[in-house]
Amino acid sequence: MSVHKANIKRITTHILQDMKDRGEKISMLTAYDYSMAKIIDVAGIDILLVGDSASNVMAGHETTLPITLDQMIYHASSVIRAVKRAFVVVDIPFGSYQGNSSEALRSAIRIMKESGAHAVKIEGGSEIKESVLRILSAGVPVMGHLGLTPQSIYKFGTYTVRAKEEAEAQKLIEDALLLEECGCFSIVLEKIPAALAKKVSEAVKIPVIGIGAGKHTDGQVLVLHDVLGITKDFNPRFLRRYADLYSIMTEAVQNYISDVKEKSFPNDKESY
Ligand code: KIV
Repeated sequence: MSVHKANIKRITTHILQDMKDRGEKISMLTAYDYSMAKIIDVAGIDILLVGDSASNVMAGHETTLPITLDQMIYHASSVIRAVKRAFVVVDIPFGSYQGNSSEALRSAIRIMKESGAHAVKIEGGSEIKESVLRILSAGVPVMGHLGLTPQSIYKFGTYTVRAKEEAEAQKLIEDALLLEECGCFSIVLEKIPAALAKKVSEAVKIPVIGIGAGKHTDGQVLVLHDVLGITKDFNPRFLRRYADLYSIMTEAVQNYISDVKEKSFPNDKESY
């Protein structure tokens, strides 16, 4: 029986591990605010990611770099207030963990304490090992993030597929094994060849969640606004849109404007 049908109250890291062990795929979406998080949670999503993609989607920045720790905590608190079932993971933003492991721990603790989140996600492999260990030692579950790590976009120079070359693929496999050994409960793999993602998913015991990483990972994650078709100008090959909310919302707003202009809103029934 699926976790959703079993009506288990709260998804935990143990349930996620059990899903991998049983071969049940894990669903994950981003959310940044109360209203959206409520809809996705009731719909039955397993993991809700308060991603630093909020920097792009909510604030209109070109990259994920500008979003601050305070802003991530604000988004995460709003999401947490809406969620009853999903496991909520929050990105540790750029500039709040790279300094040293004490800074990383402080940031993770602020996220957990001030937002009520269930886990943090952090980008990188061996170079952030000490920080990952320090956060884990405080009892905070950590999700890793390898492959295309958007906080390093100015190092990569492009958002194209990562780890196509043997050396980078090998490092990615080693990093995944290292994150598992450290104690991470899960790893996100972003925009890497499907064959490599399959190899990693088979090599580690913990759940691997893919975005642009093919069908063999233990679960999938996408950005909510892309899935719902609210964003229009982001069309990577890996994205499947499940609605065209951009058109629906535009039409709704246009109808409202014309009703106001034509004096048909409000009518007598809508008045006191
Ligand atoms: O911030 C984000 O939305 C993410 C996902 C793309 C995995 O990290």
